[in-house]
Amino acid sequence: MKVTVIGTGYVGLVTGACLADVGNDVLCIDVDPKKIERLNRGEIPIHEPGLDTIVARNAAAGRLKFSTSYADAVAYATLIFIAVGTPSDEDGSADLSHVLNCARTLGQKLERDALVVVKSTVPVGTNDQVRAALQGELNARGAKIKVSTASNPEFLKEGFAVEDFMRPDRIVVGVNDEASAQTLRALYAPFNRNRDRLLVMDVRSAEFTKYAANAMLAVRISFMNEMANMADRLGVDIEEVRHGIGSDPRIGPHFLYAGVGFGGSCFPKDLRALVHTAEGIEEPAAMLRSSIKVNERQRGILFEKIKEFFGGDIKGKTIALWGLAFKANTDDMREAPSLTLIDLLTRAGARVQAYDPVAADNAQQILKSTAGVAFASSARAACEGADVLAVITEWLEFRSPDFEWLADTLKRKALFDGRNLYDPDFVRSNGLQYFGVGRGRIHPKSMVLNSWS
Ligand SMILES: NC(=O)c1ccc[n+]([C@@H]2O[C@H](COP(=O)([O-])OP(=O)(O)OC[C@H]3O[C@@H](n4cnc5c(N)ncnc54)[C@H](O)[C@@H]3O)[C@@H](O)[C@H]2O)c1
Repeated sequence: MKVTVIGTGYVGLVTGACLADVGNDVLCIDVDPKKIERLNRGEIPIHEPGLDTIVARNAAAGRLKFSTSYADAVAYATLIFIAVGTPSDEDGSADLSHVLNCARTLGQKLERDALVVVKSTVPVGTNDQVRAALQGELNARGAKIKVSTASNPEFLKEGFAVEDFMRPDRIVVGVNDEASAQTLRALYAPFNRNRDRLLVMDVRSAEFTKYAANAMLAVRISFMNEMANMADRLGVDIEEVRHGIGSDPRIGPHFLYAGVGFGGSCFPKDLRALVHTAEGIEEPAAMLRSSIKVNERQRGILFEKIKEFFGGDIKGKTIALWGLAFKANTDDMREAPSLTLIDLLTRAGARVQAYDPVAADNAQQILKSTAGVAFASSARAACEGADVLAVITEWLEFRSPDFEWLADTLKRKALFDGRNLYDPDFVRSNGLQYFGVGRGRIHPKSMVLNSWS
């Protein structure tokens, strides 16, 4: 099939490349000429494992092309995906201006019948707005063509985006007519071979499914963080609890990790947008609000622990920071918890020596006017001259560090594990003090001493 994808960000580029990889002819367009220039030179503007190979393979085969032109976009295909950003507006609502701009421009340019599919995460009712914007432009120029719209929210995870697209758990499609369902069924057939993953539903339900999925995951994280903070005070190890509850099939083992709170380009903004939607229909959305509140506190949890360690005054201290990206395997810094920690530390007068294997350039752009932050070229270099180490992102290369070396190098011999990556006893046995998130288990030694004292 021939497909146009509008927006070549994390979602649009992955969608375009993966659709091309199963034999479709795909044109990706973007309003950002620099991005398109880079893509046409064979460079990938984002870090997404495996994406470079797929883009290169399909560009070389002539199945994947890039352009900045909407004229090219409408001339190329009658199946058009909108995958542009929907960032938070000032009031927390989803800013739909990019999506509606696309719709209007398509309405001005389309010359033949088409199916326009919204892949961006958009609030319930947006598809109706897209239809109205398109139809308004078609009417204005008296164009007698039929344009259908559909919703196809994307569930890929950054860092695993290619794998998620190629082997999806489900493909949610919201349609207004059977013909649109058939077109999308045909497009996704290659990803559906061993079992049918296509869930066809009405458009509004499809739009809401995406928000409900992200909200559920965010609530789960906040729930575990709340448990972890209690565990810290109760002498409980949240990691034991995670295994204890995750083995219940009604709960399941995924997404039960306590840590420094959620960030990234989706959960925070999608939760805010959902709360905004709830306000509009006078629903309390108490769980969503609580999840946001718990997360706000959690993003500062390591700062609280570090400050307590230094007796309340961290002025002049140097904190080594491992990881800047909001999670491993991505260069995405949008709403990364590391930014909250850096802000709190530098405001309190500490210096930060940060290292991230891929997100450092993006972080440097964001932090260029923040005084007190230096970027190191390696994990070890970040620790040179530092008082303590804080681990924020669960990159593979941080999983098994040389703890002895860390104990020799860190002046105050303390490790703050924001992702609960390490075994506290093992870290301690190497001469470091260990502080995790919810790792409050009372050390067996102190239990013996306590019982005799
Ligand atoms: N990033 C994720 O993990 C993820 C996962 C699922 C869903 N989503 C949703 O998908 C959408 C896109 O997210 P993203 O992370 O890919 O965004 P992004 O910011 O990485 O990319 C958006 C792209 O759209 C381009 N663009 C903006 N306006 C345009 C226009 N009028 N015409 C053409 N191009 C335009 C931008 O230049 C940019 O390259 C959002 O709604 C997001 O919530 C994202």
